[in-house]
Amino acid sequence: MRFGFVTLFPDLVRACFGTSVLGRAVERGLISVEVADPRDFAYDRHRTVDDTPYGGGPGMLMKVEPLALALASLEPTEGSAVVATDPAGHPFTQEVACELSRFEHVVFACGRYEGFDERFVRRHATHRLSIGDYILTGGELPALVMADAVGRLVPGVLGDPGSLEQDSHSGDGLLGPPNYTRPPEYEGLAVPEVLLSGDHKAIAEWRRQESLKSTRTRRPDLLTRVRLEKGDSNRLSS
Ligand SMILES: C[S@@+](CC[C@H](N)C(=O)[O-])C[C@H]1O[C@@H](n2cnc3c(N)ncnc32)[C@H](O)[C@@H]1O
Repeated sequence: MRFGFVTLFPDLVRACFGTSVLGRAVERGLISVEVADPRDFAYDRHRTVDDTPYGGGPGMLMKVEPLALALASLEPTEGSAVVATDPAGHPFTQEVACELSRFEHVVFACGRYEGFDERFVRRHATHRLSIGDYILTGGELPALVMADAVGRLVPGVLGDPGSLEQDSHSGDGLLGPPNYTRPPEYEGLAVPEVLLSGDHKAIAEWRRQESLKSTRTRRPDLLTRVRLEKGDSNRLSS
């Protein structure tokens, strides 16, 4: 999987691929990262990448040409995904992460100031994505959030691919059950007995019940989209 970033802050992006799971994935050649800075493609003496909005209004916008040239330097093809980070975009979800993981090349354009000249997005982006209903100072963190979610789906990146199926928002769409590790008791809170029983059928049943319970309590909105199994209606009403 090739990730590209169009960003005015290349160091911010590179730092995230130097450590931990994604860092190891880069080392092992499962993921590659390329960065292009629009400032290197600005054609005037001052290397200007922003300008005032037509029609007036506060702040500055990112100019279309340096963005387009920076993007072109990453050599996207017809088969690449080009993601414009945009708080007004489609919500980024696990489903979208799965969709992006099927591309071999994903480029993220990181906005700054008041955002992009709309023509950059119209002409070059295949996706316009938001990571949530709030405004950040720039598109680097949203791009890194998305790249992290997509990168861990690349085969071989996670040590145990089984964890992908267990994740919240994956597989059946339920939130995951609570998890415990040693010690068996902490400040009066004991690990649920069933998890110590060694009875795998009972453990699977308990986990399903807990997943359903926490989804109903914390994210009832998800239940309409969940793939319910036989017995789930009973579990939900118990
Ligand atoms: C200060 S924001 C601009 C917000 C813009 N004026 C608006 O109201 O939509 C600068 C850039 O940060 C990025 N950004 C900020 N919040 C974001 C979010 N929730 N999701 C995705 N990108 C975001 C976008 O690239 C955006 O162009």
